[in-house]
Amino acid sequence: MAADEAALRAQGSARERVTVPMLREKKARGERIVTVTAYDYPSAKLADRAGVDVVLVGDTVGMMALGYDTTVPVTLDEMVHHVRSVRRGLKWALLLADLPFGTYEAGEGDAVRNAVRLMKEGGAQAVKLEGGAWLAETVRAMSRAGIPTIGHVGLMPQSVHMTGGHKAQGRDSAAAELILEDAVALEEAGAVGIVLEAIPAALAERITARLAIPTIGIGAGSGCDGQVQVWHDLLGIPPGKAFRHVKRYASIGDAIEAALKAYADEVRSGEFPTKENSL
Ligand code: KIV
Repeated sequence: MAADEAALRAQGSARERVTVPMLREKKARGERIVTVTAYDYPSAKLADRAGVDVVLVGDTVGMMALGYDTTVPVTLDEMVHHVRSVRRGLKWALLLADLPFGTYEAGEGDAVRNAVRLMKEGGAQAVKLEGGAWLAETVRAMSRAGIPTIGHVGLMPQSVHMTGGHKAQGRDSAAAELILEDAVALEEAGAVGIVLEAIPAALAERITARLAIPTIGIGAGSGCDGQVQVWHDLLGIPPGKAFRHVKRYASIGDAIEAALKAYADEVRSGEFPTKENSL
């Protein structure tokens, strides 16, 4: 057995599968929750092996993998397709899936029915929706139905046509208070966690201190209970300038392009395949 495989097995036997209650326990112990998006089986497998706690099949799948300009066009069928693929790649990480735009806003019935699809057909262990206090009744109904629900406040990309762009939120004190109230209302309604996106670090810290459920930040500073990053941003796919909240840990886009160019050159020159690559 290769040394790295043996190490992985040893690590695997020591690992517990992440559950929803464990997220709250992690907060209570002051352990940071590591979350990353993934949209397919190989990415999920890599995230799982790397020891990520939560894998989010975000509706950013629309922009990162399907070529849409925003997350608005993403359908529930598209989400289910990607969630199922990620499910097959995970052994330990918790699988969280987004309810896409248009699948929960009209009422509790829609929200419960569509979240159940993400769980039954996709294998998600929790679902996420965007919105604040106005979704409290919906979150309550989902919670009653046994659907662990994570809220998402601050910048809500599904509202991009309302806000006129992907803009930071909660910069003045009135807006900050409303975001805090939204987060509290979601917790009271039974949410098991909240994503805080693109809000000032001080506000995220206040919300995190106020809530017993964990906060997962993106562009919300270091005072959250965990962080989430988008797979393609984190890994540099495609290359180019990243948002301020992103830290690029690799330049995979450049590496893929260079590998494909080398392959194309070698096919054209006849250098590939060699005898070793042939029967
Ligand atoms: O859809 C997504 O990937 C998200 C994260 C940016 C939090 O909601």
